[in-house]
Amino acid sequence: MINREPTKIMAHLWYGKDKIPVEAKYASRFSLSVRFLNGYETDQETTFRKLVFEKNDNQVEIGPCQFMPETDDDGYRGRLVFSRDVYDLNSLFFENKLEKLQAEFFHLPLILSHKDKINPSFKEYTANLTYDLNVYKNLFDTLDARYAGETEEIKKHVQAALIETEGRKFMKFLDQKLDEFENVIIDFSRKEHERHGYYFRRQLWSFLMCSPFMTRTNLKPRGYSGDSIMMKMIYNDKFEGDSTFGKLMHKHPIEHPAAQAVRNRRDLIAKILGELKARKLKGNGQKIKILSVACGPAFELQDVITSTEDCARFHFTLLDQDENALDEARNQIAGIEKKLGAEVEADYLNESVRTLLKTAELSKRWGNFDYIYSMGLFDYLTPPVAKAVMGKLYQILNIGGEMAIGNFHISNASRYYMEYWLDWVLYYRTEHDFIDLLRNAQSAKSKILFEDTGSQMFLHVTKSGK
Ligand SMILES: C[S@@+](CC[C@H](N)C(=O)[O-])C[C@H]1O[C@@H](n2cnc3c(N)ncnc32)[C@H](O)[C@@H]1O
Repeated sequence: MINREPTKIMAHLWYGKDKIPVEAKYASRFSLSVRFLNGYETDQETTFRKLVFEKNDNQVEIGPCQFMPETDDDGYRGRLVFSRDVYDLNSLFFENKLEKLQAEFFHLPLILSHKDKINPSFKEYTANLTYDLNVYKNLFDTLDARYAGETEEIKKHVQAALIETEGRKFMKFLDQKLDEFENVIIDFSRKEHERHGYYFRRQLWSFLMCSPFMTRTNLKPRGYSGDSIMMKMIYNDKFEGDSTFGKLMHKHPIEHPAAQAVRNRRDLIAKILGELKARKLKGNGQKIKILSVACGPAFELQDVITSTEDCARFHFTLLDQDENALDEARNQIAGIEKKLGAEVEADYLNESVRTLLKTAELSKRWGNFDYIYSMGLFDYLTPPVAKAVMGKLYQILNIGGEMAIGNFHISNASRYYMEYWLDWVLYYRTEHDFIDLLRNAQSAKSKILFEDTGSQMFLHVTKSGK
């Protein structure tokens, strides 16, 4: 977290050969507030050669910079902004780094030369697609402009009609282009996929940024694909966006098999957990203990905890590395409690499964469970990590307990759509790879389940006593 407390430095501003002592304070990411010391006065915009100060025993010189007078604020007479190299003051004050805004340009020659290593037929495919997308976007934008003056209700109605007619045809056009696409990239190695994916996204960037879903998957504001906002978009399955074209570009990937598989797997898990309701509680009246690993916002719990009896029956432990996702899970549970007027017993673990690998006495730290499930995690784990995590989870499963772990199957029909358009890369597995992750576990009875699209599989494991 960035500490937003005002941060001050004692410094000198250089004007020609004159050194003017100042106190400078963080004002914004790219400006400082400045107070002149030793009686210097100016109410004019003034260019200073440099600002010099000590930080961590080093002399820092940054500039040139422009003074911009402002109304006096407690002796601070105005702002300093940089005129050539623009320094990021967040990184200077809060992360102890000196970074320039222009640093992104450092790799420019490398980025520009990227295009020289692109397969000609891929270039041709991308150029044709770019042309076609421009034509479609232009047409949809032109129509949007024609009914822009209508009331909100009329606009909504007209747009819905457009979506259901020409919009649906556009989505079919995208399907066709994706079918063609598979043929263009079929022989690429992993490295070639990465290189061509990067080129593809640079070329199509403005189209991708029209879609709220593709914008988020590409920009990854929380640093990873599959955050809870992306998951919510998939679960909501709605037309979202600022224009008809944007709404279509948003909905198309959300209707694709991988997204449908995500919705299906949520239903499948809810169904499996629902079946636990018929189970008798243990002799000592202990609740059925369920662990969700990489729980995200735990939307599925809405479908599982539907009565006060369910609240009394289950104890949930929800684990996720992302604090925001856990907060959303907490809100989810609070919503259920409010609706049912009963308390849901739930613990929250803000941890990565990677720490689990380093923890010797895991049962002591996390407890033991009757049911463990995980959706949308193993697709991000390399085979050795996946194997180790699977083994650890099996260790904390009670005898007679069950585990359901999801992973996208190698045949996922949306794989290249996800990789090239969404920048969403996963570890895919075959049934054999998946079962093999638990090969060494004693007394494990394993089977593979698929949801309806066949893109997502679950390794279902029962831990028997023998
Ligand atoms: C694709 S989402 C799935 C969320 C939820 N299970 C669902 O299906 O709706 C992936 C979640 O895994 C979490 N995650 C990713 N890597 C993790 C790790 N190493 N340890 C714990 N959580 C992780 C992310 O924070 C994110 O909430």
